[in-house]
Amino acid sequence: MAVPELPVPTWFVGCGNMGGAIVEGWRTAGIDLSSAVVIRPSGTPVPGMRTVQKFDDAGLAPQLVVLAFKPQKLGEVGPALNPWLTSQSTVVSLLAGVEVQSLRERFSNAGKIVRAMPNLPVAIRRGVTALYGEPLDPDSQRMLGDLFAALGFAMWAADEAKFAAIGAVAGAGPAYVARFIGALSDAGVERGLTREIAGTIALETVLGTAWMQATTGEDAADVARRVASPNGTTEAGLAVLDPELRDLVIRTIEAAARRGAALAAEAKSGSLAE
Ligand SMILES: NC(=O)c1ccc[n+]([C@@H]2O[C@H](COP(=O)([O-])OP(=O)(O)OC[C@H]3O[C@@H](n4cnc5c(N)ncnc54)[C@H](OP(=O)(O)O)[C@@H]3O)[C@@H](O)[C@H]2O)c1
Repeated sequence: MAVPELPVPTWFVGCGNMGGAIVEGWRTAGIDLSSAVVIRPSGTPVPGMRTVQKFDDAGLAPQLVVLAFKPQKLGEVGPALNPWLTSQSTVVSLLAGVEVQSLRERFSNAGKIVRAMPNLPVAIRRGVTALYGEPLDPDSQRMLGDLFAALGFAMWAADEAKFAAIGAVAGAGPAYVARFIGALSDAGVERGLTREIAGTIALETVLGTAWMQATTGEDAADVARRVASPNGTTEAGLAVLDPELRDLVIRTIEAAARRGAALAAEAKSGSLAE
């Protein structure tokens, strides 16, 4: 695939963990970021990009705007950014939980509003990104799809509920997987390994399993079946894990989804607060 091009100019409003991860992924993909501008209150420089503290210093009206600040800042950023937008500006919001309708109310001058829910591995181009928004012309839809596909797996959701569902699993997913790696490592330490060795084998086991499944195309249940011989040691372990893990993960993601719904309701009522 040819290296996608960023619309000129592109603005990043905020560039912390997630904005920085996207910049890193795009940079690694060879995307030219030299005409992009970062607007952030601290003015902390982002290498290779012009960084300013105020919209007044950002320059030409943006073709593409990536909203990469916390949802709680929407009340402050909305009125400050909207006057700089034109019908040529596509706003891509990373804000968890804030629905298209709420964004449209805040950014009435924007041409199009799109939501993107990436996860942190976009920084190494192995991310998952859900996309959903107002209908775009085919060229703009392809352009945005290509930009996020350069960061790993990207897909357009059929509706906002499906977008939220993908975000609930994938957006926060790296935190849950990291906890599992940590727990596997703790179990190794319990069995007498050093923290360093336990950490390495836990990480390599998760990496190897995921890579093997991706390579063979097997179902996750089949991978487990191939490891667990009848009445063997793994089966004894799974007898402890299985009754709790599935429900635990479902409840975990339900809790995050509930928080997403609460953020969406707060954004609708304009009461998002820090
Ligand atoms: N982290 C994730 O895994 C993840 C996943 C999916 C979606 N998201 C979404 O991504 C967004 C950013 O999250 P994050 O984890 O990257 O947060 P973060 O690391 O705290 O970064 C927030 C950024 O917002 C900037 N900012 C604060 N006030 C601002 C203002 N008034 N105008 C412009 N910029 C402002 C900050 O600027 P300074 O650096 O100058 O203070 C900082 O660069 C959130 O909406 C979140 O829901 C995050």
